[in-house]
Amino acid sequence: MKSVLVTGGLGYIGSHTAVKLIEEGYHVTIMDNQSNSDIGVLERIERITGVRPNYHNGDVKCLSSLVSLMGDWEFESVIHFAAYKSVHESIHNPIQYYENNVGGTLNLIQAMHSNNIKNLIFSSSCTVYGEPDSYPVTELTPTKRPKTPYGNSKLICEEIIKDSSSQVNSVILRYFNPIGNHPSGYLYEDPKGIPENLMPYITGVIKGDYSKLSVFGDNYDTPDGTAIRDYINVNDLSEAHVKSLDIVGDSPYEIINVGSGNGYSVMEIINTFKKLGVDIPYSIKGKREGDIEKIWSDNRKSEKCLKWKPEYSLDDTIKSIIKTTQSNNNPI
Ligand code: WQD
Repeated sequence: MKSVLVTGGLGYIGSHTAVKLIEEGYHVTIMDNQSNSDIGVLERIERITGVRPNYHNGDVKCLSSLVSLMGDWEFESVIHFAAYKSVHESIHNPIQYYENNVGGTLNLIQAMHSNNIKNLIFSSSCTVYGEPDSYPVTELTPTKRPKTPYGNSKLICEEIIKDSSSQVNSVILRYFNPIGNHPSGYLYEDPKGIPENLMPYITGVIKGDYSKLSVFGDNYDTPDGTAIRDYINVNDLSEAHVKSLDIVGDSPYEIINVGSGNGYSVMEIINTFKKLGVDIPYSIKGKREGDIEKIWSDNRKSEKCLKWKPEYSLDDTIKSIIKTTQSNNNPI
């Protein structure tokens, strides 16, 4: 059975990917330090798939634990999610972001090399494009020095991985804005503390945790003045990881945008909730430090390389978010 190590596999995207891997017949080992996730996800993965993934409570900042874990199991590939991921938070915690995101990736590559594991799927980010000069962005759009330590940590990791291509074959997936939840309702975005990201904050408003959403800026150069992002359904995104395992090793490294190919403004997201019957109270605030104005993907390469394309529309995704949030908020 093909065996995969999923770092950060208890997290939002990692857990959805673990489910898909199990459904595809992979043996999955999750390594997670639970810094932004909950051990209860293991049981929920088992409830969905009937299989409880192998779990190792570990931190990618600890090289020795990575080396010994990889020595204990015959992993064929590694999918590396474990990283801090808040654009805004990273501005105030640069050292922690570089230590965890860059240091963790360096450790991972060293541990893979010492255990002769060749295949890496890396969780990168559209933030490596900075504020693009043209839209949509393709994989050939020049990267720019990202505005935040988060984005820069991802760009540095990409450079390290590319320079290590004699030791590690990789597929580098540049995510846009993951949203949504597993159709079962058992897996959803559930960050610890006050959410930095738009969608979990909106679900917090729906649950009554917060009275209203702060919309960060309505004077961008966009049709309604609010910032535009490419929201990709997390189930589509996790599928792209499984598809990446089929091509890793065909070339020393491959960079692929994983987005919906559509851009939506914050107000369009709010109005979609309204159209689907849920009013999101909001107030307009100033622009958030580190935010870019607009970005969305040209995802044709992912369709060609991965034989993958997004299946979920924005309406489908938000309908599912509403259903899961309301049912989780009123457990039977
Ligand atoms: C989206 C929009 C905010 C919160 C994300 C991930 C990052 C990377 C890139 C994968 C922005 C606005 C937000 C709020 C708001 N993805 N907003 N009120 O900053 O695009 O970054 O995508 O690697 O990991 O975090 O996402 O959801 O924080 O913001 O108005 O309370 O929503 O200004 O325009 P962002 P986000």
